[in-house]
Amino acid sequence: MRIDIITVLPELLESPFGASILKRAIDKGLVSVHVHNLRDYATNRYKQVDDYAFGGGAGMVMMAEPIDRCLTALTSEREYDEIIYMTPDGVPLRQPEVNRLSLQENLLILCGHYKGVDQRIRDLWITKEISIGDYVLSGGELGAAVLCDAIIRLIPGVLNDETSALTDTFQDNLLAPPVYTRPRVFKGMEVPEVLTSGHAGKIEAWREAQAQARTRERRPDLLNEE
Ligand code: ADE
Repeated sequence: MRIDIITVLPELLESPFGASILKRAIDKGLVSVHVHNLRDYATNRYKQVDDYAFGGGAGMVMMAEPIDRCLTALTSEREYDEIIYMTPDGVPLRQPEVNRLSLQENLLILCGHYKGVDQRIRDLWITKEISIGDYVLSGGELGAAVLCDAIIRLIPGVLNDETSALTDTFQDNLLAPPVYTRPRVFKGMEVPEVLTSGHAGKIEAWREAQAQARTRERRPDLLNEE
C-alpha cells in the first residue's frame, strides 16, 4: 500500500511513522508513506496557502490553487482509490471503514487547517471526508496519523500475531474483555480463576460474557448495530 499525505505541517507527521509498528511496516516494505508540504505548491514569494474567507468571519481558509496543483501532480503519477479530506465535519471514522481502507492500494490524505479548505476543492477532488471524533483538532495531521495507524496495523504481515487484529475491540461490534498477565496476585487482587483453569471452552465463554457486559454498560449503541 502507498499513502500520500498533503499537509502544511510535515514535521507533525514525522514521529508517528518513525516508531513502533508503523515504522516496522514501512521498514518491511508493506506500506510506503509520502508526506508532501503544501507550501511547495504555493506560487507567491510568501509561500501563501491560506487567505481570508469571502463573506468575512474569523479564521483563514486554505486556498484552492496550491491544493489543486499538488493533487494534479500526484494524480498524474498514479490512480488513487480514495482522496480523503480530514475534517471535523466529515463522517465519523468507524472500524468497518478502516477495514475497507486497509484493502486499498493507493490512498491520498489531505489535512485541513485553519477554517478548512475552499469548498471547491472538496467538490472537485475529495472522494471521502473523515472525522476522527466529535471534537476539533488544530489541524488534520493528528487525525491523518490516527487513520493511518488504524489502517496500517491491519495490513497482513504488519502485526506479529495475525489473529490479534481479528480479536480487536469493534471488530465484532463488541468491546474487548479484560486482560491479565503475571503476577497472578497483584496487591491482593487475584486473576479471575477461569483464566488459569486451562479450560479453553470456559475461558472463551467467560471472555464473551465479559465483552457483552462491558459493551452493554459502556456502548449499548454497538449492540443494536448490524
Ligand atoms: N481536523 C480538525 N479536527 C478534526 C477531527 N475531529 N477529525 C479529523 N480532522 C480534523
